[in-house]
Amino acid sequence: MNVARTAESVHVRAPGKINVYLGVGGRHDDGYHALATVFQAVSLYEDVIARHADDFSITVSGVEDPDSVPLDDRNLAMRAAKLLASAAGYDRGVALEIRKSVPVAGGMGGGSADAAAALVACDALWGTGFSTARLHELAARLGADVPFALHGGTAVGTGRGDQLNPALARGRFDWVLVPNELGLSTPVVYGRLDALREERGALADDPPLSLDVPIPVLQALRSGDPELLSESIYNDLQEAALHERPELETTILRGIHAGALQGIVSGSGPTIALLCGDPESAQQVQSELRVHGLESLHVHGPVPGARVIS
Ligand code: C5P
Repeated sequence: MNVARTAESVHVRAPGKINVYLGVGGRHDDGYHALATVFQAVSLYEDVIARHADDFSITVSGVEDPDSVPLDDRNLAMRAAKLLASAAGYDRGVALEIRKSVPVAGGMGGGSADAAAALVACDALWGTGFSTARLHELAARLGADVPFALHGGTAVGTGRGDQLNPALARGRFDWVLVPNELGLSTPVVYGRLDALREERGALADDPPLSLDVPIPVLQALRSGDPELLSESIYNDLQEAALHERPELETTILRGIHAGALQGIVSGSGPTIALLCGDPESAQQVQSELRVHGLESLHVHGPVPGARVIS
């Protein structure tokens, strides 16, 4: 395919996410679990700058430990660029510069945001001109959370979490995030959940392979009322994440004691997401957490998905 050479570089920004609700069902034969989840994109972003190059390469900044992010095919952004090149029949490469703000292995979809941003950036850089639907299809092949990083806003995810339907959310929700120096591996946390369920003697077809998001979660999002939402935020992976890191429970309790409405483990953790009533209350929670030596970030959602900045 002949693609027109366009700008010298393309800068794309994609958000991290919180799973406001995460129900995990049984495990399919491919190892993935059935999910019913509600994602919310929050104002913590990954920036990806794509530049023309003959080969594929990646540089990363914004991480404390450079070894925590692979620069080869294990990096989801690299796989995204190569997948798009092969789908478009593009025979050159790209130099990707990734500026990270979302915690690495933190349960906030940072790697998925990098992949979504890389897809959009390379599409624009190479003049590929793929439709949004085609980019979504490629995104789903890269990982369960990648389509949502493209989509942004607030959305219900079913299947592996990759089948999306927009959810109505009014207003803005304030979150205080408490990252953790030590990441958690997503497969390890899912594996722990399976083990805990097996110990409890769950039957092969229990939990089920098809799940729904409870109506009160969707009603709370529609109402724009954080108090109402705080009554229904929930994460099936939380028990497993706390099993791996029991000290996270203290962080949740400290956040609630400091004035947060509720706290949950974000995705597979270890980041803790504390839902607050308004921006002032979020600042109050942050300063109380600081007294206990806990650094945190104040973000809000929903925000848009991956988009071209320049
Ligand atoms: O798709 P992604 O690479 O983000 O998933 C990482 C891992 O999380 C998978 O390899 C799998 O172990 C687990 N996972 C799962 N069920 C899902 C999504 C992820 O078991 N629906």
